[in-house]
Order: sequence, then structure tokens, then C-alpha cells
Amino acid sequence: MAPLWPWLGALLAAPLALAGKSGDAVPKSYIVEFSNPHLATDSFISTLTRNGIPISLNHDLSFDLFHGGSFNLLGNTDNEAAVVKKISGLPYVKNIVPVREVHHSKRSTSNVRDASLAAPGQHLTRRGDHYAPGSNDVPHRMTGVDKLREQGYLGSGLRVAVVDSGIDYKHPALGGCYGEGCLVAFGHNLVDDTEDPYDDCDGHGTHVSGLIAAQPNAYNFTGVAPNVTLGHYKVTNCHSGATTDRLMQAFKMAYEAKADVITCSIGGYSGWSEEPWGVLIQNIAKAGVPCMIAAGNDGDAGMFFASDGADNKGGTGIGAVNNLMVPMILNKASYVSKNGSANFGWSISGDKDFVNGTYQLYPLSLDSSVENDGCEALPADTPDLSKKIVLIRRGGCGFQDKADNAIKAGAKNILFYNNRPGTDDFSFTVPEIVGMGMVPTNTGVEWVNLAAKNTSIYLHMTSKKYASSIFFNEKNNQAGGFVGDFSQWGPTNELMAIPVVTSPGGFMLSTYPLALGGYKVETGTSMATPYFAGCVALLIEARGKVPAKTVQTLFAANADPNVFHDGVSAYPWLSSVAQQGAGLINAFDAVNTKTILNVSSIGFNDTEHLAPVSFSINNTGSDIAVYNISHVGSATVYTLPDDGTTIPHPFSSGDFMENVNKHASLSFSARRIVVRPGQTVVVKVSAIPPQGLNTTRIPIYSGYVTLNGTNGDSFSIPYLGAGTAMRNVTILDTKHGENYFKSSESKDPIKAGQMFTFAGANGSANDISSPVFERQLSMGTARLEIDVKSSNGTIVGSLPNFPMLYMSRAPYSPTEHSWDGGLADGTYAPAGTYSIRVRALKIFGNPANDSDYEVVESPKFNIRYAGNNMKARSLDHQV
Ligand SMILES: *[C@@H]1O[C@H](CO)[C@@H](O)[C@H](O)[C@H]1NC(C)=O
Ligand SMILES: *[C@@H]1O[C@H](CO)[C@@H](O)[C@H](O)[C@H]1NC(C)=O
Ligand SMILES: *[C@@H]1O[C@H](CO)[C@@H](O)[C@H](O)[C@H]1NC(C)=O
Ligand SMILES: *[C@@H]1O[C@H](CO)[C@@H](O)[C@H](O)[C@H]1NC(C)=O
Ligand SMILES: *[C@@H]1O[C@H](CO)[C@@H](O)[C@H](O)[C@H]1NC(C)=O
Ligand SMILES: *[C@@H]1O[C@H](CO)[C@@H](O)[C@H](O)[C@H]1NC(C)=O
Ligand SMILES: *[C@@H]1O[C@H](CO)[C@@H](O)[C@H](O)[C@H]1NC(C)=O
Ligand SMILES: *[C@@H]1O[C@H](CO)[C@@H](O)[C@H](O)[C@H]1NC(C)=O
Ligand SMILES: *[C@@H]1O[C@H](CO)[C@@H](O)[C@H](O)[C@H]1NC(C)=O
Ligand SMILES: *[C@@H]1O[C@H](CO)[C@@H](O)[C@H](O)[C@H]1NC(C)=O
Repeated sequence: MAPLWPWLGALLAAPLALAGKSGDAVPKSYIVEFSNPHLATDSFISTLTRNGIPISLNHDLSFDLFHGGSFNLLGNTDNEAAVVKKISGLPYVKNIVPVREVHHSKRSTSNVRDASLAAPGQHLTRRGDHYAPGSNDVPHRMTGVDKLREQGYLGSGLRVAVVDSGIDYKHPALGGCYGEGCLVAFGHNLVDDTEDPYDDCDGHGTHVSGLIAAQPNAYNFTGVAPNVTLGHYKVTNCHSGATTDRLMQAFKMAYEAKADVITCSIGGYSGWSEEPWGVLIQNIAKAGVPCMIAAGNDGDAGMFFASDGADNKGGTGIGAVNNLMVPMILNKASYVSKNGSANFGWSISGDKDFVNGTYQLYPLSLDSSVENDGCEALPADTPDLSKKIVLIRRGGCGFQDKADNAIKAGAKNILFYNNRPGTDDFSFTVPEIVGMGMVPTNTGVEWVNLAAKNTSIYLHMTSKKYASSIFFNEKNNQAGGFVGDFSQWGPTNELMAIPVVTSPGGFMLSTYPLALGGYKVETGTSMATPYFAGCVALLIEARGKVPAKTVQTLFAANADPNVFHDGVSAYPWLSSVAQQGAGLINAFDAVNTKTILNVSSIGFNDTEHLAPVSFSINNTGSDIAVYNISHVGSATVYTLPDDGTTIPHPFSSGDFMENVNKHASLSFSARRIVVRPGQTVVVKVSAIPPQGLNTTRIPIYSGYVTLNGTNGDSFSIPYLGAGTAMRNVTILDTKHGENYFKSSESKDPIKAGQMFTFAGANGSANDISSPVFERQLSMGTARLEIDVKSSNGTIVGSLPNFPMLYMSRAPYSPTEHSWDGGLADGTYAPAGTYSIRVRALKIFGNPANDSDYEVVESPKFNIRYAGNNMKARSLDHQV
């Protein structure tokens, strides 16, 4: 299985310019939505400035589909909360929310067309061989893109906008130029506010763009839709993160540049459709432009982890399936044994480059399936390893442990061989080591088998700096065609099925900046998303413009669900809809189907909101169609582990598979449905959730309604529901050491009567201390309050920045909120006796209903201020 937190490695490998975690609020930066569509951002700024609230414009976000902008608060930060409160109370302000950070969803490894052309029969006359799929276009065979390409669909005349890290448009496979008449014809650099979205440092956006539209090249692959016109909106700089307001600006610009499709492989954690970027995406989709957003790569984090942007009806969330092949671009070297000589490829670890030379290979084990190679100290009779290359199989313990053991035996050079497809990027600090890297599984196994026959092996290494590259494209026997274990799970907090579909994203060969090698193989939902965008372009080319909602329903109904795969092995049951959505897309069937549904999934919601759901079937063909309706259950999955803890468990834990064969019973208003040409028929479906499950553990059941038509169309609609009342799920767990109050000094829990000494507004003092709330949300909440209560029970105010809205569940270490006496209205609580009350609104709870909150309260404690009278100072800070 993947390491527990794959994102951690990615974060360590690529230091971020922004300090926070994906999804965190950015201090002093807010998105303001105006209720008055005619209000200009500059008059908003001058009005506020006149009223003593100095702010500056970050992004003017006003256009047809949104009215407002993002602003930075200037000046004194102490009264930020009070300023925000004041702004939110202004009559022309509809909403003010903090800007959030977002990051790429990457996991490192190695003019609308004439609708008449869509008429049946004309396909065949448009056969073009200019852009026939190349020999390394296996993903196109997985998705039916190969057949569409043979029919001549190439995305001609369609504008696909990519929101990403910039693009190396000088790359010959990306057209070689930028501007009118070029493949990359429009866009903007939102980092530096220039017209030019060029990047030769990050690479992510160049890879993503090639998956959509790469031209024929030496690696024999092409993008899905090589005749589209690309736009690029650069929102991150070399390896930096982005912010939600910048993404909104990019989507606004792409929409105004008349993009037909907008794709974005960036996200943070939310799981609520009310975040402003998500709201904008919904508006753009409603206005007719399909938007697709990567589902994210924290698959191992478990369920209910929907990513910002993909967590709403407009942003089609895309999960990732592994390529059937594992392409590899490696550093070329050769080896020799008495059995002959051959080339091999290796990838480097960090900057641990080998010195040119010939090294004898020293495998630590002669068993090529050893589980914990190098995890123990090497035997005393180990020869001097300093002139050799030590070969170690991956697995059983960390790379660092293995390296340390080899170093103790004198090793200076190490090659690991993989125990999973491809090679991976990894690096850590080992000053003793000169050269370190990885070879694919097959290479390691071959060497170990030779060594087991007492054959000496010598490697002729060339430094990466001088090495040419060598390309392999091997079958992915382990995981090809299955959903990647990294692909992030839904559903949203309100049980919307996310992702919508999956497309190829694991082991994808694409373009990369020329300065960084020109081509690269990458894995992630970041790759699956632009792949899907290319397919949407082909669909619009073939069918003509259809509503964004119909794009979703066509791809979902014609997708193929697959069985569950844990990264190593497959299981004999369909994977949950919460992981794979409708399944792997089939672009050919989506283009050619004569049946249009009005839903991409059926939500049975939770037990409290369980009700029959209707969907409609539109027969757009010229023959009468008779459909037989049935259904097939997917694995029922427990969100929570069986040890009583309340944070969704990671998928490496295994015990989520207990009840996979307990399915819902579905009944239909009819089992056989006759739809005449041009007619639309409504079908009603009711569900009885699977029985005998432990409702405390939040069981999620799902499956597929199947429709088998006499017209040759056969398709499925995913359904999903929770076998519990979401209003009952725990958000603030206090039983497992989280969500408690402690002292900033001692870190011990707060004791009744404890005294805290605050510095106060302008004050500074030694020996100050504060009460701290340590937060770890088990599940998301739409409203988190932290209030200060006086000893007589009255709420005197909120902590600054509270309430916080639309919070994601905890994936990480706890977050601390400390109180220094300041309140959200900018005042300070007078010295006295208080407690702190934390409330989290239950999922589906009514904010106005006290019993719909979970509450945690601190013991009563005392506060005082060091130095002078507090009240006098606090008045200076009123706004
Ligand atoms: C691309 O195709 C050509 C011609 O078939 C072949 O010589 C070459 O090796 C291929 N390159 C790759 C990287 O597959
Ligand atoms: C696709 O683009 C190529 C290269 O610009 C061009 O030769 C070809 O005619 C285009 N195909 C269609 C169907 O527009
Ligand atoms: C290493 O070998 C390569 C390929 O033979 C050669 O081009 C390069 O100059 C050599 N480098 C050193 C430092 O010897
Ligand atoms: C040695 O080479 C022969 C012929 O090339 C091959 O069949 C055999 O499998 C090789 N032996 C090993 C142990 O790789
Ligand atoms: C479930 O019901 C709630 C309350 O009516 C609603 O807000 C939510 O959107 C529903 N979820 C789905 C997936 O239909
Ligand atoms: C059925 O589909 C056709 C073709 O897309 C469309 O014109 C028609 O409005 C649809 N009917 C309904 C009831 O949605
Ligand atoms: C349901 O699961 C919870 C949490 O693991 C456990 O405490 C409880 O005993 C279980 N209930 C039953 C009936 O098994
Ligand atoms: C659909 O119908 C075809 C032909 O009648 C049959 O072979 C197939 O098994 C059916 N599929 C399902 C899922 O019922
Ligand atoms: C919530 O849980 C309690 C205790 O298990 C149960 O009595 C109640 O019916 C549940 N509420 C709903 C809406 O299911
Ligand atoms: C409760 O205490 C607050 C200040 O701590 C005070 O303003 C308020 O008047 C008190 N209310 C009552 C009913 O005593």
C-alpha cells in the first residue's frame, strides 16, 4: 500500500511559498460578494477607506456571474475580526469569507463546431490519419478515445482553458509558440499579472496540457484532443500554492475568453458546496461551460474527504485509474555478467548522483520477493561495500532505515529495486552516500536471479548529469486499469457522490518543460482531470454544445465501474461509488449513446432523509427503446474503524471491508420501460439500506442501477447513501484525547479557577499565558463557534475569526486556538471569570437550533491583564 500520508512526501519535496496547509485561511485576505451588482470594487474600497477601514484590491472578481472581489486588510492586524464583522454588516455586502490556500493534486512517481457534423453517418467520411493515436497511447484504448480519433474527432475548433502552474509553450509538442494561431493561443499569468503564462520551472501545467493536446512526438503519444486551442491561466509559481481568490479570477478570465471547457488540477479540503470558488464554478457550469476539478490524491485518508471545487454540482470531480502500461523515462546505464550485457534504466534519489564508473553489484538478499530487505543490521561477514553498489528491495521498513544499515557496513552507493510498478521519486538526508536511486522491479529481479546463480554483475554507471535517457513501456500487471489507491474518496459532507467519474491518471506520459527534460511520467488525479477535459472537447465536437449537466450525465451513464483494488491486489466486489463514482469513462459510448439521463448519480441521502428518487430517460434515437432496469451493489464501506474512534480511518487499515456484501434493496416504479423516439420517461427508485450494520461507524452503501436497452444502449447510474443519520455523527470527540482546553504554558488541561494573565491590546508583558482549545474535527461542520462565556452564563463574544464556516474534517495534526482576551468585535473581555464554549453544528443541523450543536466547554477560569487598565486601550481599537 501507499505510505500513510503520500502528500507529506510531496510537501517535503517541494517547499511551498505559502506557510499553511491546503485549505487553510490566508490571514488578512477576504473574498467579498456584493449584493449590489452595480457596485464597483474601487468605490467599495474608497467607501471603506473613508470609514476608517483601509483595504486594497487583490482581484476584481466582478463579471456576469459574480459580483465582488478579494481584498487585503491594511494596517493594524489586532482588530482584523472587528473589521471583518463591520464589513459583513454593510448593506451592500452579501458575504465575506476568508481566502483559502489550495495546492496541486499531484503525486510524484517517476469556436464551437458546426453541429451538423454530429449527424450519424458523417463520422466515417472524416477519417483523418494525421493524428492517429501513437503506439504509446494506451490510455486512449482504455477510454474509447482511439475510436473517436479514428472517426476524425480531434477537438477541432474548441477552446480548452487550463488553470495551473504555467506552460512551456516553446515545447514543439505544445506548438512551439504562444498567441493567436498557436496551439496555446490565450491565457494570463495571474502570479505576475502579465499576459505570458510561460513556465520552465514547475512543470505541472506543462504535463497537464500535453495530456489534453500534445502533438505527435518522439515518444509516440498524443494528447486526447490535439486540435483544440489551449488557454493557460498560470495561478502558481514554481512549486508554490495558490489561493481561492486567484482561482476565481482565473475561472472568470477563462470564461470571458470564451473557453468551451475549463479544467483545474488544484484543490484544498472542504467538502461543502458553499465555498466561493465552488459557487463560482456552479455558476459557470450553469452558464454552459463544463468545469472539471481533480478529486485529490489523499486516497489513503479515507472517506468524506471531498476536495474544494469538486465538492459541488458544477465542478465535475475526477478520480484516477491507472494506465494499463507503466511508461518510464530513466537514466540509461548498462550492466555486464557472464550471461552477456544489456542496458537498464535508473532514477535518481534527490541529488545523489553516481560517479562515472564500473561497480560490482551487491544484492543484500538472493530472494527477489524478500519482504524486509536491509531492515536489520547487515551480517558481520559482509564484505567492504565502499566500492560496490548495494542492491536493496523496497518494502518492510523505510528507505532511510535500509540506507542506514548499508552505511554502517560501509556503503557509498545504493540502488533500490521497486516492489510496485515504475520507479518513484524519493530523497532524504544521507551525507555518507554518493549515489542513490531506484530501478524497476524487473531489473532488480533479473539481477537477483543472476546473483543467485553465483554470477557476478558489474554496472557501468554514467552520472545522471551526462546520462542519456532510456524509455520503457511495461505492462502494469499489478494495478493497471484499476482506480489508483491514491485517488481521493468522497462523498461530500452532505452525501453527494464524489468523484463523478474516473479517467486515466496513474502512470501518464506527457510533455514537460524542455529545461526539465521535455517529457515525464506522472501519477495523480491531476493527470486524470485534463484527460477528461480532452474527452469533453471530443464530445462537444461530436454532439454539439450540450448543457454542462448533460456532459456529466453522458459520461457517467456510459462509464464502466470496476472492482476494488488496494494498490496491490484486486477484490471480487465492485468498489464503492465514494471512490470510483460512475467508473472509468468511455468517451466513444458517451458520444454515441442515444439515451440521455437527467442525473449523473442517485443520492439516497441518510436514513433521516431517505426518500424515493426520480430520474428521467430521454430517447433521442429514431427507434423505440425498451430498457430493462436492475441494479448491482458495490462494497458497503464503514467510514469509521471498529475501535470506537471517530475520525474516518485510512484505507491501509483493512477493516473497512467487513460488510462489503451487504447491499441495499432497490425497487423501481417499473422494471421494463418503453421510451418512444423523442420521448422522456420518468423512473422512480426507492431504497432500503442494508440491514444489520453498525450505524455508529457510518456505513456507506452504494451500487449501480443498470439499464439495458433494446437499442443497444446499456448503461448504469451510480447510487449512494448512508446507513445512519448524519445528524448523529460525532464531530467534536472528547473521548479520545482531542478537543480539550489546555494552558499555553504548561500544556496541561485547564483546571477550574486557574488564572491566566494576558498582555492586552497594546500591552506586552512577561509571564503571559492563555487558555488554548486544541481542535481535531472528526467530521466536517458547516459552522464552528468558539465563544467566551461569563460566569453568569451570558455569552460575552466570540474568539476572533469565529464562527468559522464550512470546515473540513481533520486529516492532520490538531489545530490550536488560543485566547488572549480579544473578542471578534475588537473589544477585550474585562478581567474576571469565564469559560470557553465550543460548538460545532451537526451535519444537516439547523443553525438556529441549539440542540443541533455538539458542545464542549472548559472549566471556569480567571483572567487578568498585565499592566494598565484594559478598557481604556480597547476603545482605541474600535472601528
Ligand atoms: C516511436 O516509434 C518509432 C517508430 O516506430 C520507434 O522507432 C521509436 O522507438 C518509438 N519511440 C518510443 C519512445 O517508443
Ligand atoms: C487538425 O490540425 C492539423 C494540424 O493543424 C490540421 O492539418 C488538420 O486539418 C486538423 N484537423 C481537423 C479535422 O481540423
Ligand atoms: C561521464 O561519462 C559520460 C558519458 O561517457 C561523459 O560524457 C562524461 O564526460 C563523463 N564525466 C566525467 C566527469 O568523467
Ligand atoms: C541468461 O541469458 C539467457 C539467454 O540470453 C536467458 O535465457 C537466461 O534467462 C539468462 N539467465 C538469467 C539468470 O537471467
Ligand atoms: C440530503 O438531504 C439534505 C437535507 O434535505 C440536503 O441538504 C442534501 O443536499 C441531501 N443530499 C443529497 C445527496 O441529496
Ligand atoms: C431530449 O433530448 C433532446 C436532444 O438532446 C432534447 O432536444 C430534448 O429537449 C430532451 N427532452 C427532454 C424532456 O429533456
Ligand atoms: C458499533 O461500533 C462501535 C464503535 O466501534 C462500538 O463501540 C459498538 O459496540 C458497536 N456496536 C455493536 C452493536 O457492535
Ligand atoms: C443486456 O442485454 C443483453 C442482450 O439482451 C444481455 O446479453 C446482457 O446480459 C444484458 N445485461 C444486463 C446487465 O442485464
Ligand atoms: C441518533 O442516535 C440515537 C442514539 O443511538 C438514536 O436514538 C436516534 O434515533 C438517532 N437519531 C436518528 C435521527 O437516527
Ligand atoms: C452577566 O455578566 C456580564 C459580564 O460578565 C454582564 O454584562 C451581564 O450584565 C450579566 N448578566 C446578568 C443577568 O447578571
